[in-house]
Amino acid sequence: MKQAKDINLDGFDWGQYYEERSRRFTDPLVASEYITPEGKLESALIEAMTGFVIEHLAPVSTDRFLEIGCGCGVMLSSLADRGVLGPETSGIDVSPGMIEKARLMVTLATFEVMDAASVGKLGKKFDKILLWGVLHYLDRRDYVTAALREITDVLRPGGKILLGWVPDADRKDDYVAWRKSLPAVDHSLRTPRKAGLEWLWFEKAFFRDLGNRYPASVEILEHRGFPGGLEHYFFSVLIRSEA
Ligand SMILES: C[S@@+](CC[C@H](N)C(=O)[O-])C[C@H]1O[C@@H](n2cnc3c(N)ncnc32)[C@H](O)[C@@H]1O
Repeated sequence: MKQAKDINLDGFDWGQYYEERSRRFTDPLVASEYITPEGKLESALIEAMTGFVIEHLAPVSTDRFLEIGCGCGVMLSSLADRGVLGPETSGIDVSPGMIEKARLMVTLATFEVMDAASVGKLGKKFDKILLWGVLHYLDRRDYVTAALREITDVLRPGGKILLGWVPDADRKDDYVAWRKSLPAVDHSLRTPRKAGLEWLWFEKAFFRDLGNRYPASVEILEHRGFPGGLEHYFFSVLIRSEA
């Protein structure tokens, strides 16, 4: 389903996975996989994540705001409910089914079916760019590098990018052990896939190096106070372009 044909994409096709979820599940939280392994909806977690995005990205309603990998609009909808988004809000996702749902859910924003590395085709620059829970679904490192280059290119001077909820390579073994130890996993809310953990896991150094490649500062953000006990397996990254 990807459009960036020049990039080798032979990893697990997460876009296809989420496309299947968008067709199979009507509840947006279930479609976006905001569910615990036991099948409970993560509404409190989304509230906390929204607060974190507001704290670090500081969106205001006059911003040109872009969410990449917006899914069916769960995060955008939560941000819109807090009054921090305005009419210059856009969302892209590689899954047409997700974008169909997002258009119904977040009426103030405009949406396009597009993959992260093609974002330059929007022909616009943005003040704030969010990728929340997306980077680990981007197939391969070379694709991530290409996508980040495109994404930083569409950031306005003085703008910010938040790469949120990135799986921490240093915690992968602990995470795998935790998943294996779970007594109950509700498979009725999952789409069959090869295994559970084909994500990309990232070293923090990968992002610190970005600061040397782009005219931007890079800050690693640790997570504190999120409900559900998952926060320590992930970190976030704030990129600020020079004004
Ligand atoms: C876990 S969902 C996150 C949705 C949204 N960010 C939120 O928090 O509500 C991950 C999303 O990434 C999208 N995705 C996967 N690969 C992508 C790519 N190459 N370009 C853009 N989106 C992609 C999937 O289709 C899916 O909707």
